[in-house]
Amino acid sequence: MDKPANTDLPIHPLIRGRYSPRAFADKAVAAGDVTLLLEAARWAASCFNDQPWRFLVATRERPEGHAKMLGCLVESNQRWASAAPVLLLCVAARNFERSGKANAHARHDLGLAMGNLSLQAGALGLSLHIMAGIDREAARAAYGIPEDFDVVTGVAVGYAGAPDSLPAELAERERAPRSRKPLEELVFADAWGEPRRA
Ligand SMILES: Cc1cc2nc3c(=O)[nH]c(=O)nc-3n(C[C@H](O)[C@H](O)[C@H](O)COP(=O)(O)O)c2cc1C
Repeated sequence: MDKPANTDLPIHPLIRGRYSPRAFADKAVAAGDVTLLLEAARWAASCFNDQPWRFLVATRERPEGHAKMLGCLVESNQRWASAAPVLLLCVAARNFERSGKANAHARHDLGLAMGNLSLQAGALGLSLHIMAGIDREAARAAYGIPEDFDVVTGVAVGYAGAPDSLPAELAERERAPRSRKPLEELVFADAWGEPRRA
């Protein structure tokens, strides 16, 4: 299904075409492609090059591992994410590695890494759906994630599928057009709230 960004401006086709599917095709992702996604994430910028991101990976090739990670999602996400052939948990360090001081930028940097991962996915014909709806304590216990790391998000990865494969209510959401606030609401010039004149 195509669900392009509704914009007249010539943004990159990978950005225009990206969306967060809930329907996934019954098609495995090659192990090498999963590695490519993570390699793209690895090359993101980060504050002091601290690279605070960590990832846990589960694929359907190992059904026990896939079920274990699926169990770390909230039920409403499990409903559709069970069809995704690859699941990730994204983790961020609380402190800088070198100084031990609190790293207020770790989630920012994890977000940059996810941006890289998302674009690499698009280039491979893959899609991802990031999820805040996870059971962080369950994930910490299941994987032995240390206390100085935060479990931030889960991610479902795969080839986007047909909305018809979803329950009716989710299929309707899947078909709904993507929407965004206008730039004027987001970008200011000389003072807060004062729109920029392009
Ligand atoms: C940090 C983050 C957390 C999200 N959590 C969830 C979630 O728990 N469940 C869900 O269905 N979608 C989740 N989403 C997906 C958003 O709802 C989606 O990106 C947004 O509606 C825009 O749609 P689009 O990505 O298709 O443009 C999340 C996205 C992000 C970036």
